[in-house]
Amino acid sequence: MSFTFVLGFAAAAVVLQLLRLVVNSWYHARKAQSLGCGSLPRYPCKDPFGIGTLRESMAADKEKRIPELSEQRVQLMADRENRFVTTFITRNLGNDIIFTIEPRNVQAVLATQFKDFELGGVRRLSMHPLLGTGIFTADGEEWSRSRSLLRPQFTRDQISQLDLEEGHVKKAMQCMPVADNGWTAETDIQSIFFRLTIDSATEFLFGESAESQLGVLNGREDPKDSFAYYFDKSQHTASVRTRFEKLAFLVDNKETRYSDKRVHDYVDKFVAIALRNAENPKHDLEKGPYVFLDALAATTRDPIELRSQLLNILLAGRDTTASLLSWTTLMLARHPHIFQKLRESIIETFGTYSNPKNLTFADLKSCQALQYCMNESLRLYPSSHLTVAAPRATLLFLPAAALTAHLPYTVHVIHRRKDIWGPDADEFKPERWANRKAGWEYVPFNGGPRICIGQQFALTEAGYVLVRLLQRFDKIEDVYPERKIRYGLTLTSCPADLVTVRMHQADDA
Ligand code: HEM
Repeated sequence: MSFTFVLGFAAAAVVLQLLRLVVNSWYHARKAQSLGCGSLPRYPCKDPFGIGTLRESMAADKEKRIPELSEQRVQLMADRENRFVTTFITRNLGNDIIFTIEPRNVQAVLATQFKDFELGGVRRLSMHPLLGTGIFTADGEEWSRSRSLLRPQFTRDQISQLDLEEGHVKKAMQCMPVADNGWTAETDIQSIFFRLTIDSATEFLFGESAESQLGVLNGREDPKDSFAYYFDKSQHTASVRTRFEKLAFLVDNKETRYSDKRVHDYVDKFVAIALRNAENPKHDLEKGPYVFLDALAATTRDPIELRSQLLNILLAGRDTTASLLSWTTLMLARHPHIFQKLRESIIETFGTYSNPKNLTFADLKSCQALQYCMNESLRLYPSSHLTVAAPRATLLFLPAAALTAHLPYTVHVIHRRKDIWGPDADEFKPERWANRKAGWEYVPFNGGPRICIGQQFALTEAGYVLVRLLQRFDKIEDVYPERKIRYGLTLTSCPADLVTVRMHQADDA
């Protein structure tokens, strides 16, 4: 084969490739135009690789104001473009990312074009060292399998078992003793909520409670050497890995690996119990409530798979609900008139602390004052402030964007859009929920086929805890009322500065 022939062949290949690119972009531009997809503006970055964007995110993470950075970026784009921009391109470590706060795009990703999207490699890479493969990291068949195993756990019968919750509430209440004047000391109520939700989630899902509240009450648990400590640390590492995308491995070191190991060791104890039960012919799965772990152990004996599935659901079940409780309590402590109004409603519907009535799943669901408060808290402070979807194909069209890249939709900013929620969008106003039916502009639980499977369980649990708290205490004070709110982001979002309150016990409690 002559040299000229090889050269000619190579040149033809290059020309063909260029032609393909030109035709493709012409075709895509026409299709985008016919679907009304505008061309997207670019977020300014001084360097071509988007290292500046990553630096911005890392600095905001350090200052615990990542959700505010998203708001600032939207504002900066509005100022540059002289219009409100809801979808734009940012560059991060050499990759284009399409950032959106457009509910129509969220609806397309989660529902109408669900099949065109997946969680994507970035999520898998960043979370795998901690979570392995489970419902939060899997797509396709693997996801479908995890979801069907979980479904029976969340039937109405299962989530209505409020006597289990009462046991956890009682232990939490022991961590809030009152002095002779009826007031508690300064109380870090956020940590109490995190222990409560891990205890109830482990009991609900694994059939056995972690009893971390008792551990602290008895002085057995060292908060700096506990499962909760390492779980938070490992989640934070996973969220940093997300920002490094394909270079996520750069984030790992001896310390992060140790933390992940401590988390795994903790969950492996439950796995060992489940495996023992599965071998025991007397352990009857049909008897008693559905326990996810037992059902799982009946389908696989692989300890790594069992651990991964458990960790995935534990992440979902513990942090999100504890965050909702923490944010709501902080808001109530900062808005005494809303606290009093909610308390009046609670006492009227559910009686006093020592003489409760109607505390059922249905009654909790129909207490509007309570539901409005939780809705408002989840609007302003969604546990999952940002979610990333990845297109399966190289180019997709969404109602408001032609898409080639990863698409983070920023729930935090969508929930605060003034054109949707009004000029008071940044304020905590539960009454805004009267007569309001939310659509794709309110997605604290996601939507579509991957909608949060634990939504009803979470709202029942959080509602129950709030009712019992407000029955017992008739006043609540934020110990640091002037403190600027900061965001503690791991894979979920909770107040960065622990919620520290003083509470006054009602005379009839
Ligand atoms: C207030 C509390 C909660 C909030 C705000 C919440 C929110 C969410 C959100 C936003 C997602 C989508 C996450 C993503 O894909 O990035 C999700 C998924 C999920 N949630 Fe929740 N969640 C809460 C409580 C719970 C609880 C208590 C459980 C279980 C015990 C649970 C189980 C799940 C599961 C299994 C998924 C994955 C669903 C799937 O991909 O098919 N969640 N949740």
